[in-house]
Amino acid sequence: MRLSLRFIIPLFLALGAIAYAVVPLVDKLTLQWFERDLDSRASLIANTVQEPLRDAIRAGTRSRLEGFFTRLTQDERLFAVGFCPTGGGEAVATPTLPTEITCATLEQYSGDAGHVLKSADGPLLVSVRPVVLAGAPAGTLVLVHDLSFVARRSAETRKYLFYFFVGLGATVALITVVIAQLSWRGWVQGLSALLRGEGLVRPDKPDAPELRPIARDLRALISDLQAEHGSRDDEQLAWTPDTLRAILHGELRGQEVIVVSNREPYIHVREGENIAVWRPASGLVTALEPIMRACSGTWIAHGGGSADREVVDRHDRVGVPPEHPLYQLRRVWLTPKEEAGYYYGFANEGLWPLCHIAHVRPTFRSADWEQYVAVNHAFAGAVVDEATSPDPIVLVHDYHFALVPRMIQEALPAATIIAFWHIPWPNPEAFGICPWREELLDGMLGSTILGFHTQFHCNNFVDTVDRLLEARVDREMFTVSYRGKLTAVKRYPISIEWPPSAELVGKPVEQCREDVRRRHDLPPDQAIGVGVDRLDYTKGIEERLRAVERLLETHPEWAGRFTFIQIAAPTRSKIEEYQAYEGRVRAMVARINDRFASARRPPIELKIAHHQPDEVYEYYRAAEVCMVTSLHDGMNLVAKEFISSRTDERGVLILSRFTGAARELPEALIVNPYDTDECAAALHLALSMPAGEQRARIRLMRGLIQDFNVYRWAGRMLIDAAAMRRRGRLLERATAPEARRRPVVRTGAGHRR
Ligand code: F6P
Repeated sequence: MRLSLRFIIPLFLALGAIAYAVVPLVDKLTLQWFERDLDSRASLIANTVQEPLRDAIRAGTRSRLEGFFTRLTQDERLFAVGFCPTGGGEAVATPTLPTEITCATLEQYSGDAGHVLKSADGPLLVSVRPVVLAGAPAGTLVLVHDLSFVARRSAETRKYLFYFFVGLGATVALITVVIAQLSWRGWVQGLSALLRGEGLVRPDKPDAPELRPIARDLRALISDLQAEHGSRDDEQLAWTPDTLRAILHGELRGQEVIVVSNREPYIHVREGENIAVWRPASGLVTALEPIMRACSGTWIAHGGGSADREVVDRHDRVGVPPEHPLYQLRRVWLTPKEEAGYYYGFANEGLWPLCHIAHVRPTFRSADWEQYVAVNHAFAGAVVDEATSPDPIVLVHDYHFALVPRMIQEALPAATIIAFWHIPWPNPEAFGICPWREELLDGMLGSTILGFHTQFHCNNFVDTVDRLLEARVDREMFTVSYRGKLTAVKRYPISIEWPPSAELVGKPVEQCREDVRRRHDLPPDQAIGVGVDRLDYTKGIEERLRAVERLLETHPEWAGRFTFIQIAAPTRSKIEEYQAYEGRVRAMVARINDRFASARRPPIELKIAHHQPDEVYEYYRAAEVCMVTSLHDGMNLVAKEFISSRTDERGVLILSRFTGAARELPEALIVNPYDTDECAAALHLALSMPAGEQRARIRLMRGLIQDFNVYRWAGRMLIDAAAMRRRGRLLERATAPEARRRPVVRTGAGHRR
């Protein structure tokens, strides 16, 4: 309505202005036309009356002439008639002749056209015509026409013009408002339908073909604007599960998400009559699980639990989390031979030591490689099985599946594949020792985006590709173009859920302290240090234990007052190197405890067992210090978990400089795990650190994890994937047959655009 008024008022104002300009013009023209008509009429009358006038003059009877003139003025228009004889004889006129007109003043009215006289009787037109008698001038005839009817007519014309303009205005306004309302409603409906994803419709023509190009452009524009908006807001957004869902539905139009990893998020284990559910000790699972809860979709993983087969449906799927399913876990079964070759062999005896600088030699066997290829095929096949659209978003995780991105890309060319490498990437020389280096790189470059935790690992990867493949590497954009496909290589530091779930931090810190000390038979004032790792040689557990020993040497006052609890989840225990490692760790703990046997408590407690997340968090919250001393680590989420667990803003983190986390958490006590003295000094510093300093350091680290939580990690990858998808579509359009037919524009330099 307001819109209509906004249109109607100016319309009426415009019409008023037109009328204002037009009416005087019409008046003037009408007057001119009438004057001209009356003057011609005067000529006609003058010609017609010549004969009787001559007779009357010849007869010389004045009364006859007056009677003749009076008869003439019976005409409605002719107001007066007069005659002035040549030579100054007596003039004859009707009594109506205005006094201003005399024979003496007649000169001023002569001429071809009539003259307007504004007399007391109203406007008059005075026309003067000669009268000729026997070829000689006999006098002048004066004919006076009444012009007052012109004013009457003008007034009437103005009235009708006014009505005309009002009518015109009303009609135009009515038609315009009706059309505007109809089309506005149509467009509004169309646009809402478009935004609802139903396409642009016109109510009268639901599939109006003329609207299709507009709909396409509008849709592209909206999604580009949304994308621009989303990308620009990366810094400002509060990253929560809702933010992630909004990105998925906005940027990626609710596309299905399929995750592929070796380790499954929930392991069903038979315990006598019961089936227990275990949460594995895996940074990957810690990070990805909240993402999948937020996004739904399907997670494809190796079903390795003793009761895994018992709980799946006929498609090998089970809804998880078990207590309240939010997404599907699709299990892939492996034979012992496949698991031995692919997982224990190629992945963990080959690639794992190849990528970590932990001074363990990688072992590469062609039989393991064959299994690795076969299992990668099996997982790629599972992705294709699970995909319900030709262009799903597939997140492929870790070194177990280097070949999967290319396999998926070949089967589903429109899929968006994000591969994330959770462990470090070595320099080109180190990677070059792998006999299947080109095959691995080729497989990884099937992805749309390839992510690492740090820029250093991105650089190493790009250097490796540059050294080993015939690929085009763009170091400005950090992309690799290989076999006609573009892969963006990017840094996405992984993180954890924020805020931590109440299930993990719900128990008060004081309670955690008491319970842990009671469980370990420790006095209430005992200082506690914790280490939480898989029992893996890359984690620097031996180095950590050596640091505890050195602390007791350099600061004997801590003997008996400090206990270090090492939680070590058994891992890859079929591999000899791991068995040897466990043996070395056990022996070292025994030796150190033996050495300090006289203290009131043994300095080290080793707990080689699987612990559920809530148990681990209880230890974090009970401790004075947490030690992360990895020899080499992509990120290390234990460091971030410890910080997130400390809602009381107490506790000190000692962190190896060889972890990705050290780049993000400089407020931790950063150490070189190979430097035993430095680590021992850090332990002493941590145990003696005033509460204020602990709070100041931990606050900064909590702030960082809050800002860069796992939702942001995944969200940034999805935003980038959406941008790559849009770019891909644009390129597709540009190279479509229609676009190829467009004329090629040549620039001055001869390049084609
Ligand atoms: O942290 C690196 C990582 O490979 C994870 O990606 C993986 O889940 C974790 O180590 C545990 O390893 P595994 O699954 O072999 O026990």
